[in-house]
Amino acid sequence: MPITPFEASQRAREICLAAPIVPVLVVDSVEHARPLAKALVAGGLPALEVTLRTEAALDVIAEMATVDGGIVGAGTLLTPEDVKAAKAAGANFGVSPGATEQILDACEAEGLPLLPGAATASEAMRLLERGYTLMKFFPAEAAGGAKLLGSLASPLPQISFCPTGGVNVKNANDYLSLPNVICAGGSWVAPKEFITKGAWDKIESLAADASKLLT
Ligand code: 3PG
Repeated sequence: MPITPFEASQRAREICLAAPIVPVLVVDSVEHARPLAKALVAGGLPALEVTLRTEAALDVIAEMATVDGGIVGAGTLLTPEDVKAAKAAGANFGVSPGATEQILDACEAEGLPLLPGAATASEAMRLLERGYTLMKFFPAEAAGGAKLLGSLASPLPQISFCPTGGVNVKNANDYLSLPNVICAGGSWVAPKEFITKGAWDKIESLAADASKLLT
């Protein structure tokens, strides 16, 4: 069922409010999907972004979507085909590094709540004009970090952000303490070496630490 931008932001907001951090996941093997999702959910991070950057990504989404307590989304949405495939695999939300008309149209038509990317006031204003009130601030650190994002709060108080890109355990609270941030995204909770080794207890522990960051 199609959704409006307003509904998309509302649903994305509910998902983002589940925990302070949304893990950004790059998963090469579908065998890792279930234990990885279980570890992150057990650690207190239920909303998971699986980037469409590996061949296994869609199968990983389908597998993770069956894990109790998880809310699985698809990241790195670049084309309408990505959107359709993510939705078909069972994604509950989508994330894009930017926002093109094609991506917005496709997510609205497919009924996939989207966190569209914005890095400047003008990009955020264009999305707001269309009805989006929740966006991914990307690439957060490179674009100007918490200082830039905090500066948008006063002129654009109706927009909330999920900063992603260079966010880590040390700087996360700089973002999470801003009035226009409701969660942040980051890959540090699921390092590639831990996924490859199957170090699920270590990932659960990183997730547990992240879940205790400011909300
Ligand atoms: C990404 O899409 O790669 C995210 O922005 C994650 O960035 P990070 O690896 O710096 O957390």
